[in-house]
Amino acid sequence: MPLLAVDRLVTHYRTTDGPVRALDDVSFTLERGTSLGIAGESGCGKSTVALALLRLLKLRGGGIDSGRIVFDGQSLRELSKAELNRIRWARIALIPQAAISGLNPVYRVGDQIVEAIRAHRSVSRSQALERAGALLTRVGLSESTLRAYPHEMSGGMRQRAMIAMALVLDPDLVIADEPTTALDTVTQAQILGLLRRLQRDLQIATIFVSHDLSVLAQICDRLIVMYAGQIVETGKVAELFQSPRHPYTEALLGSFPDITAAPRPMSPLPGKPPELSSPPRGCRFHPRCPERTARCEQVEPDLLGLGGGRQVRCHLWSEGS
Ligand SMILES: Nc1ncnc2c1ncn2[C@@H]1O[C@H](COP(=O)(O)OP(=O)(O)O)[C@@H](O)[C@H]1O
Ligand code: SF4
Ligand SMILES: [Mg+2]
Repeated sequence: MPLLAVDRLVTHYRTTDGPVRALDDVSFTLERGTSLGIAGESGCGKSTVALALLRLLKLRGGGIDSGRIVFDGQSLRELSKAELNRIRWARIALIPQAAISGLNPVYRVGDQIVEAIRAHRSVSRSQALERAGALLTRVGLSESTLRAYPHEMSGGMRQRAMIAMALVLDPDLVIADEPTTALDTVTQAQILGLLRRLQRDLQIATIFVSHDLSVLAQICDRLIVMYAGQIVETGKVAELFQSPRHPYTEALLGSFPDITAAPRPMSPLPGKPPELSSPPRGCRFHPRCPERTARCEQVEPDLLGLGGGRQVRCHLWSEGS
């Protein structure tokens, strides 16, 4: 049984123009100890997946319409508020997008971590402090960071502290939403190295969300590519990089430098994803797709299995090909 199974998830946000369907029939699984990347340009629904898994869409004026989220055999949609609170952080930890600006500015970092530990575990303050100190060291910060205020720390240090906080209760699953986006390239590389080491050493299942495929390539086993609220391609990282099947994946790969290979010309992807209040008819990518045909403009493609765990939503492919 996978650690996490998401089945036909449909979610909405309420807007003045009526509900917007932000996720449309999203299904995927995550095995224990493995790492899944969710890619796609801004506005494709990546953060919505992260928030929906923890039933946090209400924070953004949204909600789940249908579908199942099964975590370690438990259906998360059926849990009471109290049951859900026991799972959040302790078993599924979320490092939200822009988390580094989310640390409370008036509390010392150590106190914030201690508070989180003691909200879930009955341990003394000194035991909690010891645990917090050990974790800060593990993520490459000194123990003196316990006494620091967030404004005294660089962006990279704050992100390390957020990672320590996510790990503090020994979760089974960590979800990190754009964990390196706000950082300069040198710090990005350091944080990616840290995430990779932690993932390898602790064997925690992880979901990394990023608009940057080259970031995900470094830390993930499998990838999901999203476009306009739908999954358009899935597969193992190496396969997806070597032979992207969906024209959108191909375009995304071409719009970021590939740090694992020799430099190659980049070709920015023109246009932007559609507004989800009125997605295009047929294939949602057709207005930007260099390979579209008349059929693409009329008929919505299904997500097809290509074998070997690969899936693609595009008329250029047929089942099992
Ligand atoms: N609170 C909201 N109200 C209405 N629409 C929203 C809200 N939050 C997000 N959306 C829309 O949902 C879509 C997906 O958003 P999001 O999951 O944040 O994308 P990503 O993380 O991939 O950038 C976007 O089109 C965005 O405009
Ligand atoms: S279905 Fe058509 S428009 Fe959509 S990605 Fe495939 S070729 Fe392009
Ligand atoms: Mg996002």
